[in-house]
Amino acid sequence: MSLSLRFILPLILALAAIAYAVVPLVDQLTLRWFVRDLDIRAELVANSLQEPLQDHLRAGQKAKTQQYFARLVQDERLFGLGFCPEGGALVASKGFPAAIRCDGLERFGDPTDRLLESGQGPLHVAVHAITQDGQALGRLVLVHDMSFVQRRSEETKRYVFYFFAGLGLIVSLITVAIAQLSWRGWIKGMRALLRGEGLLREPGKAEAAPEFQPIARDLRVLIREMESEIRPRDDAQLSWKPETLRAILHGELSGEDVLVVSNREPYIHVRSGDRTEVQRPASGLVTALEPIMRACSGTWIAHGSGSADREVVDRQDRVAVPPEHPAYHIHRVWLSKEEEAGYYYGFANEGLWPLCHIAHVRPTFRTADWEHYVAVNRKFAEAVFVEAKKPNPIVLVQDYHLALLPRMIRERLPEAIVITFWHIPWPNPEAFSICPWREQILEGLLGSSILGFHTQFHCNNFVDTVDRMLEARVDRESFTVSYGGKPTVVKRYPISIDWPPAAELTARRVEDCRADVRRRHGLGAAHLLGVGVDRLDYTKGVIERFRAIERLLELEPVWIGRFSFVQIAAPTRTSIGEYQQYEAHVRALAEEINARFGRGGYQPIILKIEHHEPPDVYEYYRAADLCFVSSLHDGMNLVAKEFVAARDDDRGVLILSQFTGAARELPEALIVNPYDADQCAAALHMALAMPAGEQRDRMRLMRGLVAEFNVYRWAGRMLLDAAGMRRRGKVQERKPWTGGQ
Ligand code: F6P
Repeated sequence: MSLSLRFILPLILALAAIAYAVVPLVDQLTLRWFVRDLDIRAELVANSLQEPLQDHLRAGQKAKTQQYFARLVQDERLFGLGFCPEGGALVASKGFPAAIRCDGLERFGDPTDRLLESGQGPLHVAVHAITQDGQALGRLVLVHDMSFVQRRSEETKRYVFYFFAGLGLIVSLITVAIAQLSWRGWIKGMRALLRGEGLLREPGKAEAAPEFQPIARDLRVLIREMESEIRPRDDAQLSWKPETLRAILHGELSGEDVLVVSNREPYIHVRSGDRTEVQRPASGLVTALEPIMRACSGTWIAHGSGSADREVVDRQDRVAVPPEHPAYHIHRVWLSKEEEAGYYYGFANEGLWPLCHIAHVRPTFRTADWEHYVAVNRKFAEAVFVEAKKPNPIVLVQDYHLALLPRMIRERLPEAIVITFWHIPWPNPEAFSICPWREQILEGLLGSSILGFHTQFHCNNFVDTVDRMLEARVDRESFTVSYGGKPTVVKRYPISIDWPPAAELTARRVEDCRADVRRRHGLGAAHLLGVGVDRLDYTKGVIERFRAIERLLELEPVWIGRFSFVQIAAPTRTSIGEYQQYEAHVRALAEEINARFGRGGYQPIILKIEHHEPPDVYEYYRAADLCFVSSLHDGMNLVAKEFVAARDDDRGVLILSQFTGAARELPEALIVNPYDADQCAAALHMALAMPAGEQRDRMRLMRGLVAEFNVYRWAGRMLLDAAGMRRRGKVQERKPWTGGQ
């Protein structure tokens, strides 16, 4: 039905209904008016007849009365006249209705019942008493013709019809004109809205017209809901890059700033003579989160541990980084020597670190360390409160140094979304129960909205630990723990690296890297090279790695003089005795093996215990024939993924410990048990002898995995889950369900 008809048809129907109801009313009303007029007229006529009639009666002139009546009824309205004398017979004009008889006049006394139907149409009958000197002479009957009333009624009906028809036409024309104009305006406005004009509130751009504001509002909500409906399901279909993360932050989380909190800072300013140098620490956490912060901006709160850190910050302890293209801020938290010793070296790295890693190093717990740990977590919380611009920031808390921080944030900012990521393994409940402050650690972590681990195994261990140690509600289907009110979702988010790796942009050709590295170490062009890149930490299995190399040279002497292994080892946590002993042990073992198999300048192990910047490490990855990751226990191990990412030539073999999280994602690596020196030696031999085709097939599969599950996807999945939680929270606030009570 056309737009005009939609307006006109109901209008015409309504007008017709009104006309249908109005016509009988008008008819009755006019009839009543005419009857009243005829009553008055009859009375007037009767009064003027009174005297002549008295004269005729007195004279007994019946014939004269009849003549008189005959004259009077020539009036077009007066239909007939009659007189009923007291006790006498009717004297009437010609045409007087026979139905009116002198003995039946009483019925016309009722003023509402004076109508009489006749063959000529309706008649009005009025009866008047004629008296003389108070004595009744008889009754005068006046009969008026009422057919004119019928004629007028017909006429009135016609006029009413014309009136309503005219009215309907005019109103329809006006309505159709207004409807057409408004409709065009609406279509134009809606099209503009659908094109996005005035829909998004952008500075400098006009908003939608006031009448479109409610629709614009609904559209915005709809778009957001559709995006959020689609995104989590389409996680696999999204192309994960920095822009994807930014889109999630803007679309899903209303452009909120991200606060990252970790102990380790991504850029360390160090004094070197009278110069200030910037260092990138050897840290998986930094490798993963730095590209995220470049993409999302925001603020990274971390311990200012560099010797020149204080010199470069502003009055709010902030510095913009990366130094070459600032994209976000570091807010530095300052710790005293005692605090650092108790919180970082003591509780975090002599207590929690060995507690969570199965590396057979006993954890040490001291009350004084714990007290520092609590105080420093509080210090970080204060920095979060300073940086939070809204009551509901998104805070990404990193690692075991800050286990108490999530609850501290939740207590002060209950609307904040706290996503905590635990970068190291979580042990089974028996192992964890060693910690004297186990409940406080668990309670602290359960202040998180989301608690992430690298593997499902670590999630299971955490939930088992909570179940065993706290009075908490554990839902194993949704992996949610409710403790003290709000729930914490425990979920697996395997961490990853930037893809494509930033270093790729500036990297030199593989052939150049191979030649340069070999030249640097005095090796021939065909010399085979393995590489290991680690912090010098006992969990990394460097001793086991060297033992495997030693075993290889024992079992397969063909490699002596043809193969060397470069171990890049970044000094770490050097004030802890265990680490000092480990370094000494590693140095001694390397010397021992070199002494045993080295001859003529040949060194099977090239040990480089010093800090290397990421581009230098990248060069080694590209120069090597194999990379050996032999961690005794590791949450993920990003060196494995970095090596794969560096090999765009599809060459090189990865030997990977089965005790790393990465082993679950990269089965095309040669997976080994680092405690089994013979197995590792066999893997080394296989790697060195592996044909190029097999290297390529394995490397391609691994590169595909790392490309698909890069670090943007890791962070994006957490942010999408956080956005989903926030949405569900809002729905529950709107419609609290009381279970039908
Ligand atoms: O692997 C655990 C972890 O804390 C990482 O988060 C980080 O990459 C690494 O250890 C470095 O440790 P630190 O900050 O003590 O140098």
